[in-house]
Amino acid sequence: MPPVPLTGSVFQTEPAELYRRMRREHGAVTPVLLDGDVPAWLVLGYRELHQVTGDPVLFSRDSGRWNQWDRIPDDWPLLPMIGRRQPSILYTVGERHRERAAMISNALESADPAELRGHAERFADQLIDALCSKGRADLVAEYAMLLPVRVLARLFGFPDEQGPGLVAALNDMIDGRGRALAGQTHLATSMARLVARRRAAPADDVVSRMLADRGGFTDEEIVQDLMVMMAAGHQPTADWIGNSLRLMLTDDRFAASLFGGRNSVADAMNEVLWEDTPTQNVAGRWASRDTQLGGRRIRAGDLLLLGLQGANSDPQVRTDGSELTGGNGAHFSFGHGEHRCPFPAQEVAEVIARTAVEVVLDRLPDIDLAVPHRSLTRRPSPWLRGLTGLPVHFTPVPVL
Ligand code: HEM
Repeated sequence: MPPVPLTGSVFQTEPAELYRRMRREHGAVTPVLLDGDVPAWLVLGYRELHQVTGDPVLFSRDSGRWNQWDRIPDDWPLLPMIGRRQPSILYTVGERHRERAAMISNALESADPAELRGHAERFADQLIDALCSKGRADLVAEYAMLLPVRVLARLFGFPDEQGPGLVAALNDMIDGRGRALAGQTHLATSMARLVARRRAAPADDVVSRMLADRGGFTDEEIVQDLMVMMAAGHQPTADWIGNSLRLMLTDDRFAASLFGGRNSVADAMNEVLWEDTPTQNVAGRWASRDTQLGGRRIRAGDLLLLGLQGANSDPQVRTDGSELTGGNGAHFSFGHGEHRCPFPAQEVAEVIARTAVEVVLDRLPDIDLAVPHRSLTRRPSPWLRGLTGLPVHFTPVPVL
């Protein structure tokens, strides 16, 4: 069986069938081809993914180990994700990684949850104010993609007036087209200025707490990690909001909560993490020596991609085809092991996403999809799964 190209229109609709076919034809560890026919392994088995993420020595986060570097051109489109020459937390390993993850966790953990929720509510209300009298909106472009970055910027310590500029810069950077580099430069310069200001005059915010850490990280390292936190935090949280609203607007099981009850918001959000998770696949881990995994022979330096969505739907853990409306949080959507999404970051994402969904339901009570639900499409990416748009209509309501 030839390796499977990890591209194509299937990612705009339903990749679940693709993961099923890969598992049927290739097993839990599937050979895939990335852009330019670069080979990698996609780890789709729940047990195998546990093994990979649970052993950071054998399956390292250090991309320098890759045995394909000599064939990767400087303009390879996936280069930013693989991380050559990026000295951020993502590619740090061992004891220094543990210290770095602790610095980030402690800084985020000290954020007051009530205050965080207050910021999320205030920015969500401002965004709804801007669209509520129109009777129609695209809840991805005009809402979900504008919210998490505003809340994170506030949490980090940016003054509110810099918020809109940061939203535009980050979304340009994510978009990956003409303005991507300018967006990245604006973001990095703004971060560096904030770090310098807080170095001179600490305040009660995430940046000041990272600077106060005793691990001896340089200002440049802290700027790198703030960039990761902003980029790793904004888009998946925006997609979690969009995918949850889509589920609630298209699935009868959640209709009741649109008309008053809110109990099932948490259920819908949890079901999204299992079935339609924002981070589908992650690059990756690199084998530090020859080994076996899922019956495959893995060579030292091979790249293993974490198939989070594939593992979430592994029939070995989903034998009863169960409805995942409940508290079952054993999905892989935030990763696992030492390099997983830090727990306080998961909580920040949860508060922002949940507040975002609740504010929509409170403010636009008769909201409905403005297009047939089958016409909704996803971005054509095998990595982050989110809607290209979510057009809705509702009875116009006055600004608060
Ligand atoms: C729905 C929202 C989110 C999802 C689905 C998500 C998912 C993930 C996943 C799957 C990883 C693991 C990558 C790997 O194992 O290689 C990760 C790592 C990370 N995430 Fe998140 N994340 C979310 C929100 C956030 C937020 C809000 C922040 C920060 C404010 C954040 C900060 C980080 C950081 C710093 C790492 C790197 C951890 C390390 O390498 O030790 N994430 N995230």
